[in-house]
Order: sequence, then C-alpha cells, then structure tokens
Amino acid sequence: MRATARAQPNIALIKYWGKRDPARNLPAVGSISVTLGDLYTEMTVSLDAGFDRDRLVVNEQDNESMLPRISACLDNVIGTSRAHARVDSLCNFPVAAGLASSASSFAATVVAASAASGASASTATLASLAGQASGSAARSLYGGFAELKNTRNDVSVETILDGHDWPLKVVIAVTSDGPKPVSSGKAMEISRKTSPFYGRWIEKQHDDLRIAREAIDDQDFEKLAQVSEHNCLKMHSVMWASRPPIVYWNAATVDCMQGIRELRSSGVGVFFTIDAGPQVKAVCIASDEARVRDALSAIAGVTDVLSTGLGEGARLVESA
Ligand code: DP6
Repeated sequence: MRATARAQPNIALIKYWGKRDPARNLPAVGSISVTLGDLYTEMTVSLDAGFDRDRLVVNEQDNESMLPRISACLDNVIGTSRAHARVDSLCNFPVAAGLASSASSFAATVVAASAASGASASTATLASLAGQASGSAARSLYGGFAELKNTRNDVSVETILDGHDWPLKVVIAVTSDGPKPVSSGKAMEISRKTSPFYGRWIEKQHDDLRIAREAIDDQDFEKLAQVSEHNCLKMHSVMWASRPPIVYWNAATVDCMQGIRELRSSGVGVFFTIDAGPQVKAVCIASDEARVRDALSAIAGVTDVLSTGLGEGARLVESA
C-alpha cells in the first residue's frame, strides 16, 4: 500500500485571496495560474497497519509542523479509519523560500494517497480534495494555464490553455529564504475581517478573470501583463490595508518589480507577480528569458534566480 506522485508548484496570475468558507477552505474568488515545469515535489505515501502514528519526512528529516495538515489531508482522501501512514517528501527547490511548495506538496499527496488506498478518484475529485488542504493546490492537478472556478459547494479546475501552445517562461528571483511572517491562510482571514478594500477586491475579481481569460485565448502578452500586475498589486493593497498590516515585501522585492517594469518599457516581454512572500516571479516570453535572468541576478539582495517553463498537472509516478 504505497504510491508516489509528483506535482509542480503553480503561480497565480489572477490571485486567490480570501475564503468564503474557512472551515471547508473554499476560496472567495476564482483564480488563474500557470503550472511550472522544472520545479517539483514528490510525495510517497506508505500505509501500514503496523505503524502506530503518522510520520512526515521532508527531504529525509522528520517534520512535525506540517504533519497535522498532511494527516488531515490523508483523512479527507482515504477516510478516518485508515491505517497510519509514513509520508516522504522530496522537493527539488528550496522549501522555505515561499515558492508555493504547499501547492505541489498537497497536490502530490492527494494523488499518492488515493492510489495507495487503492481508490481511483477522478482528477476533478482530487483537485477538490487538494483544495481543501490548500486552496492553491487544487490548480496543481492541472497543467499549463489553469483556471479555478467556484461552484455551489466546491471548486472546479480546468486547463484553459496547454503550456505547449504558449510556452512562456517563469524566472523566480529569491530575495529571502526566511520563513513567512504569517501564513497565507491566516493572513487571508485577517484581510477578510479588517481590510477596508476586501469587499471591492472580491467584487472586481470577475473583471480580472475575464480579461486574463481573453488574453490567454488570444495569446496577448501585453494584455496578460497588465491585468496580472494589476491583480497582484491590488491583492497586496488589500493586505497592506489590513490591521495589523500584512507586508511580505522587502527592498529587493520592490527593486525587482521596478526592474521588470523598466525592462517591459524597453520592449522586453516580461511582467511580475508576487505571492504571500518576498520572492518575485517574472513571467516572460521565451526569447527574453536570458535578459530577464541577467537583469534580476544583478539586483542587490537577490540571492538566487531560478527559471522554468510551464509543465503538467500532478501525476502518479509509482504504485505498489
Ligand atoms: C497569494 O493556497 O497557500 O499564493 O488555502 O490557506 O492554504 P490556503 O492558502 P494558499 O494561498 C495562496 C495565496 C497566493 C495566491 C494564489 O496562489 O492564488
């Protein structure tokens, strides 16, 4: 009763920020993301009636802090009368760097857990289960450009354009490898309860989703750049206006953002997006990747630059 699955992180262009049902972790808004290609997390779930408790082993070290969320996710996928599990996680990118490792981890966990228990759940069901563990994880079940929509009591996700059809690149400037000051889940709740901009953020999301969908359909880079940067800055404005304020940026985050805007005004096909952390993700046209990498590497405070194309949804690697 053992299975291994692999999933890649995804980066939202039109962001999820806010929960309409915190208990069931249902998002308040739809979102659109790109699934990355070269960064991945592999999760191996081993179920054994002889185990006396669940264990999570991340890059060969026991991890107690994420264990309750992983155990809850296994209960959700397999049922609470399941055998205890050992879950091994291997990540080929820095876990603490705020690069959406929870999305790839939970996406891979639901696929591996379902296979290890002998079930054959659909991708739609697995996406819904991943979303209950972490909202953004639902999107990593799908490759390329993925859209998450709210349905009545759930979410549904689909690939709206295959990554091969518009092979954009994502260059990630790492500006800090410290842990987040506050988790995105907690921060969203602070925003919902205190930010004067929260209601307006929710109301306007439909417009941004429609514009992004049109831009992706038409492969209109400039249109996607404008709506993505707008949506990102709007989400961070909601955070900044919360009480207490939620500020994930550092000086290098701002310098990267400005550097990317300057590159675009000089004709380079690139735009930025920033999630609940200080790293800057630059989405660019493939032929401009080297220029973007060089420019971001030269910014003071950037400690690492990673780049990748777009990739596939979560999948089973091995099952025994
Ligand atoms: C800023 O999916 O980490 O990256 O559902 O509480 O686990 P939980 O939140 P999470 O939030 C992601 C927030 C974001 C935007 C996005 O990915 O859409």
